[in-house]
This record gives sequence, C-alpha cells and structure tokens, in this order.
Amino acid sequence: MNIFYNEKDKAFKLRANNTDYMMKVCEEGYLAHVYYGNKVPDEDLTYLLRLDESPFTPATNDRDRASFMDTLPFEYPCFGLGDYRESAFKIMDADGMSTSDLRYVSHKMYEGKPKLEGLPATFATEESGCSTLEITMYDKYADIEVVLIYTAFDKLDVITRSAVITNKSEKPFKITRALSACVDFDTDKMDMITLNGSWARERAVERCRLHHGKQLVDSCRGESSHQNNPFVALCDNNADEDKGEVFGFNFVYSGNFYAQAEVTQHKKTRFLMGINPLDFEWLLEKGESFTCPEVVMVHSDEGIGKMSRTFHDLYRNNLIRGEYKDKRRPILINNWEATYFNFDTDKLIDIAKEASKLGIEMLVMDDGWFGHRDSDNSSLGDWFVYEKKLMGGLKYLVDEVNKLGMKFGIWFEPEMISPDSELYKAHPDWAIQIKGRPLTLCREQYVLDYSRKEVRDYVYGMMKKILDSANIEYIKWDMNRQLTEVGSATLPAERQRELWHRYVLGVYDLMDRLTTDYPHILLENCSGGGARFDPGMLYYSPQIWCSDDTDAIERLKIQHGTSMCYPCSAMGAHVSDCPNHTVGRNTPFKTRGHVAMVGTFGYELDVTRIPQEDRDAIPAQIEEFNKFNKLVRTGDHYRIGNMFEDNTWDAWEFVAKDKSEALFEFVQVLGRPNERSRRIKLKGLEADAYYYEENEPDKKISGAALMNAGINIAKMWNGDGLYGDFCSKILHFIKV
Ligand code: DGJ
Repeated sequence: MNIFYNEKDKAFKLRANNTDYMMKVCEEGYLAHVYYGNKVPDEDLTYLLRLDESPFTPATNDRDRASFMDTLPFEYPCFGLGDYRESAFKIMDADGMSTSDLRYVSHKMYEGKPKLEGLPATFATEESGCSTLEITMYDKYADIEVVLIYTAFDKLDVITRSAVITNKSEKPFKITRALSACVDFDTDKMDMITLNGSWARERAVERCRLHHGKQLVDSCRGESSHQNNPFVALCDNNADEDKGEVFGFNFVYSGNFYAQAEVTQHKKTRFLMGINPLDFEWLLEKGESFTCPEVVMVHSDEGIGKMSRTFHDLYRNNLIRGEYKDKRRPILINNWEATYFNFDTDKLIDIAKEASKLGIEMLVMDDGWFGHRDSDNSSLGDWFVYEKKLMGGLKYLVDEVNKLGMKFGIWFEPEMISPDSELYKAHPDWAIQIKGRPLTLCREQYVLDYSRKEVRDYVYGMMKKILDSANIEYIKWDMNRQLTEVGSATLPAERQRELWHRYVLGVYDLMDRLTTDYPHILLENCSGGGARFDPGMLYYSPQIWCSDDTDAIERLKIQHGTSMCYPCSAMGAHVSDCPNHTVGRNTPFKTRGHVAMVGTFGYELDVTRIPQEDRDAIPAQIEEFNKFNKLVRTGDHYRIGNMFEDNTWDAWEFVAKDKSEALFEFVQVLGRPNERSRRIKLKGLEADAYYYEENEPDKKISGAALMNAGINIAKMWNGDGLYGDFCSKILHFIKV
C-alpha cells in the first residue's frame, strides 16, 4: 500500500514511485491540496496551508470566509460559495440553483485500481502495483455525494484521478460541470506545453509562459480533434528535455475535453481537466451516478523527456490491451494513397502479389469497398460488398490474398451515414440532428446517433456479417467528421445535452463489443488522419493512424509532438510515394523508411507502379524494421533534435531498458553551407560502459563520451550526390 493517512492531522499522502501527492481535510471538512512533487520522508506538510494564507489558520473559528474560499487549494472546487476561480463541479438543482458545497465524509484505501464503468482507463498489473484512495465528499444541503478516486502506481510517477457523482436525494438535479481533476499549484512560474494543429499537421508542440487569467485548450467537436489534444504539461520556465520539474496531464477520453490553467490574483495556478462543460448537462435522478473519465498525471523531475517516457511505459503496459499489446505488428500495405476509390479485386490482388514478393505481410483494403461507393459522397452505413468492384465477393479476395501468404485487413467508418445510402433511406432519424433544422454536411456525410442502442446494434450486425464472411485480421476504424446540430430523435428534452457524452460512450461500447468478440483482430483507430489520437482510443486499439500527412519531413514534427505522451509503437506510420500527396515533396525512399519505422510501419503506395529502385529497396527496409522493432516497442525514447526550434535537422534515440544497445536516427532536413558535420550528444546510455557502433566494432567509446562529448555526423549527400536535403542515417550502438 503506498497511500498513508495521518488521523491526527487528517492528512493523506499518495506515493507514486518517486512522487508524493498530499492532501488534508480542513476542520470545516474541505479537502485541500498540500503538495505535489518529489517524494519527501515527511508524513505531514500541512503547515504549508498556513504560510501565506493568514485567514486560514486551523483551530480558530474566526476566519475571513470570502478570502479563505477564494484562496484555499481545493482538491475538487465547487461553484457558488466564494471560490471565484474556475470550479471542477457545478450543478443545476431542482429549484434552479447552482451552488454546491462538498465536504469530507469518509475515505477508504485499497490495493489495485477500480474499473470506470463504460469508460476506458489505465489498469493495474501484477508488475506495476497500484493503490487506490477513494474520498467521499458530501453536500448535505443538496444530498449529493462525490467520490474522488486517486490511484498511485508503485513503480511509475503516475497518479490517476476520477470522480463518481451520485444523487442521494429524492429530487433530480443536473450536473452542468463535472471535471475529473483539479490541481492547485503554489506558483505561476510555469510554462504550459500543448499539442495543437489541424488536419495533416496534428499535435505541433506549443509552449508559452503562464500569465494572469485563463489559458485553455479544448475540443467542442465531439472528438478529441486535430486542433487540440487532451494533453497539457506544466513545467518550470527553464525545463527542457532533460532537466526541470514537469507535470503532465492527459485525459483518457475521446470526446469534448477541457484543460485549463488559471493564474490567480496571488500568482498561483489552478489546473483543471475533464469533459468540456460547454453544452454539457447530465440529469441525475434519485440514486443515479455519473462517472467522470480518468485523468493521468505524470510527474518528472528530469525534464520533459522523462515525463514522456513515463507516459510511454504506462500506456504500453497499463492501457493498451489485446493480442498485439507486446507484439510486432504485421507490415501492411494500405491501398488508400495507391488507388483512393479507384480499385477493384484485380487491382488489389496485383498490389498484394507484388507486395508479398517483397516481404509485406498484410493487405489493407481502405475506403470504397461497400454500398456503391466510388467517391466520398455515398454509402456510409451500407456495410455490404460493392459487387461491381469486388467481383467474386470479399471471401474470394481475402482467400486470394491469404494464398499469397498475406493477411487481410479492412476499413470501416462505423459512426457515419451518407444521405445517399440505403441506411439513411430506411432510418433518416438515426442521424444526429435537430428536428426542424437542416442537417449540415461535412465530407458529404452525417453522424449516426450512437446514444441509441438499436443504431449501434444494427451497425454492429452489418460489421459482424462482413467479419464472419472472410478471414479478416485487421480493422481500420475511421471517423471523418465532427458533430453539429447535436440532437437525438429519442432523448427527452431534459437529456438532450447529454448526447455529446452519450455519443462517446456509444463508440466505446461498440469498440468494446468488437474487441471482445474478435480478440485476434488488430484494430487501428483513425480519424481523418490523427483527430482521435488519445488515450481513450488506445485502450481499444493498440495503434492509431497518426496523420494523413505521410511526408517524411512533415512527420518529423507530427511524430515528435505525438511522442510527448503517446508511445511511438502506437503511431500508425507508412512509407508513401513521392511527390508526397499532401505537400508535394520529394524525399529519399530510405528516409521515408527511417521515419516510418519509428511507428507501426507499413506502405501506403502502389507497389506495382513505384520506381524499380524503390521497390528493390523494400526487402532491406523491412529487414531493418524487423531488426529494430523490438527496441522501438520496448526501449526508452529520447528526443534529441527539435524541428519546432531548428528545422534544419532532427534526431532521436531508442535505448534498451538494460542499456545494452541504442538505435540512433538522424535526419538532415536542410543542408547548410559550410557545415561539414554536426556534433550530436547521445542520451540515456550507461556512462561507465563502453559502446561500439555496429559497423565499427573496433572503435569503443564510453557512454560518458557519447553523452557528454557526442558523435560527429558528416554532411550527407543523396545517391549520386545530387542533393543533400532530407537524407537520413541510423546508427546502432552496442554495449561492449
Ligand atoms: C481518412 C483516413 O485518414 C485515410 O487514411 C483514409 O482512410 C480516408 N479517410 C478514407 O476515406
């Protein structure tokens, strides 16, 4: 058990590896935050609460109420009682009132970690070890109970948080704000790091200094979004990859989220994360409960890099599930950029024939195989085979591909419905809509009302028929539009605003059924590229398509940003053709391989039509991927270059957990005049050990020298010396 309670001071301490998180129940029953940071031997630091908050003096009863309420670091701040900072919890009661007042009632502590009903969440394993603290808070006026759930991991600097709200009264009330976590920091001297972007340039790293007022990232699009990711890190102003204190927050949720830092009048910072309160309401009838999704909090005292590695370890071991969790993923070839909608059985078999000769292991048939879909303007929802394209049927195609020794994968977009579909003709009310208003199209499609079980059941029935009709071993689950006119034909008026969240719960329900019924199928999530790259999705799919931008150079930034909290082994990354379809750039085939092999690896091109020399390079590229994949999947990832700061080069490293080997990758993005070589310092090696590069076994260099003095990377030229931009290199260091 790594949770301690000191009855005398009513003080809690959670220990997660080298991190302590401390709280205290004040004499009024408020739950106050005391400390979050490196572990300390002390059981009780509650003196901190008295230092600069003169009105807050335990054991006296003459407090200045207003001042106290607006400065106390509340663990779960309520609205309406004088805490004018953003609150975590707000209601609308049967009398139209929004004030609530949660006070401590009791707590319990136990080994392990509870499941969150209907929601994805990290889990404990025997190796990881976890302890959980549940603190019950109660509003005696409204008869509302909120159980705050904290889990501390034994061997990782990770604490997770959630809350369960229950209506104990006879009367119903509405929750209008139910965030999952609040942390009040005693300083404003922090930077906020966020991952922002757009389609084809997801998760660009942005960093800014906190300032007075509220700084937030959020999504109100119905998915976690291309635009902002549910991740925030707050760090020392001078923290970098390798030093400084960092607090990382990631929301295990795939819908509307909210993550805000607020610098207050006293130069302190309140951080909040949870479901976006915008347009959110949830009605709780007598006895009903609402569960807030999980927030993962990671503490690092060794910079941003260590925070990322902690997230990676947690997600690889305690979030991702299924048969492929710890396995190398099959090397696939996807026909999207090869053919778009223009394919048929013969074309796919041609691609598979050529691919199988080169060592590619799976053919993925992307969008366009169902209904009468020849472009994006029809057939979503009609999950039956388009016979004109798949002559001979799906089973014939899959069998032919299997005969080549390859697996077969298929694309679905289960949450969508085209106006031009049989499904829409039969069930126009199944689309999310507001009665009497026109429906807005986006990519020629509407969104299905996944709050309705009959809708989910029907879609799943169609998917099952397809999955049972042939030997399908992989699914790409796509989602290509955001939500508008959010209304359901069946929810009563007082529950309409629940649709945002009910939609996400419906998606989780279907993914749960799918992964339970077909445990051998590898599920890859996708949303118009990487609009749903979030931990909620990782719980169901061990890999997520990172971005529709497959250009190797653009990918340097996208994958760098994604690695802030998501493991590289979960990033869908493919070698595609040139000029690149998104940016029109030409890059060496080798570099495309080096960048894709950091992720799941595969090909997204017409292998029958690419230049012969590229085709010839594929077997060796696959060999290289296979050689290093275990290291990429299980090793520690170090970012060395940073294209957001210097767009002339990038580099990164994967180091084995036992430090016995390291893979170093370097990309010379833009050649610079008069620069013959560049000195780069490696990271994460054993300082006292000696290493050699695989191709120079006689040259032994100490880990200390490699990390402190570095190595020289000579300027590279591509092929016959025509150009140097976009060249790449990998080095494999092995411990003597
Ligand atoms: C968006 C995805 O990101 C692409 O890879 C592709 O599957 C298309 N959708 C198909 O419509």
